[in-house]
Amino acid sequence: MKQTILVTGGTGFIGSHTTVELIQAGYNVVIADNLSNSKREVIGGIKKITGIEPAFEFIDLCNKEATREMLQRYRIDGIIHFAASKAVGESVEKPLMYYRNNITSLVNLLELMPEHNIKGVIFSSSCTVYGQPRPENLPVTEDAPHQKATSPYGNTKEINEQIIQDYIHSGAPIKSIVLRYFNPIGAHPSALIGELPNGKPNNLIPYVTQTAMGILEQLTIFGNDYDTPDGTCIRDYIYVVDLAKAHVAAMTRVLKKDTAALEYFNIGTGRGNSTREIVETFEKATGVKLNYTYGPRRAGDIEKIWGDCTKANTILGWKADTPLEDVLVSAWKWQLKLREDGVM
Ligand code: UFG
Repeated sequence: MKQTILVTGGTGFIGSHTTVELIQAGYNVVIADNLSNSKREVIGGIKKITGIEPAFEFIDLCNKEATREMLQRYRIDGIIHFAASKAVGESVEKPLMYYRNNITSLVNLLELMPEHNIKGVIFSSSCTVYGQPRPENLPVTEDAPHQKATSPYGNTKEINEQIIQDYIHSGAPIKSIVLRYFNPIGAHPSALIGELPNGKPNNLIPYVTQTAMGILEQLTIFGNDYDTPDGTCIRDYIYVVDLAKAHVAAMTRVLKKDTAALEYFNIGTGRGNSTREIVETFEKATGVKLNYTYGPRRAGDIEKIWGDCTKANTILGWKADTPLEDVLVSAWKWQLKLREDGVM
């Protein structure tokens, strides 16, 4: 019998791509989302790609009674918990909103899991927990020391990791895999789902594609005086479809009987690319010239980070293998589709 996975935040950027991969791997999916940063139409995109329309629950997971009532209507085997507010800047302005949304929803789900005999949860964490690793710790492994978060958003990731750890250590009858993502980018190759930032984007790739499209006038590369080969910051840019596949591997593993109760995996490419490299690769791969300039550093930016993903490669049997050129072309195709559809 097919197993059923609850994907919270399933209409969001990573959630929608993961729903597609889960369906294609033979799982049933129930999406729970409050549509605070996504659109219901995403379900149509998922259906076009997979031929299957996942169940959709419009729900605020901070409402425990509503969440309980939802869980009573399905037989859920596992949960992938994406639903969270994720804008670093906004979290500095509205810290309590971030603590309430991101923490209450997780606590509710964890409390309800044993009640509904749900055995496993995959949690979306972030490499943000490592802060700026010391040079000798690059590429960063799962054992690298954590650093104090620089934003309430980052802090909610750290706190949620702690909550899961404490709950499992207390003997709770659940298992968890925590995935620490590096920088997710790109869109499904079909261009039927992708990232839809609200307002002016903060993240690099939507900024690049919107500038290339002429929606934004110019991209500013934040700082070219960092201690890196070309002076611009370095990140580990992971293709969202590869990232989605990591969730399928993690879900399959967490529902197995003989694995540890709590495991952590870095999910990245294992490679660092500078902002300038991203811009140049985008231009080369798409043939579109970008209007960009160099500006001052952005407050709070990490200089360089990329992941050692050997653990995920060996234990999850997963690897990010999509070439960067293809990933950037997928982001561009998605931007073209948004234009074609009159979205922006
Ligand atoms: N950048 C620019 N110009 C822009 C936007 C970004 O130069 O207009 C640069 C940034 O300075 C940085 C790189 O592009 O060096 C990537 O920036 P993003 O904002 O896309 O991503 P961050 O690495 O800063 O942050 C991302 C997520 C956070 C998460 C963090 C670590 O946005 O939510 O990764 O996981 F916390």
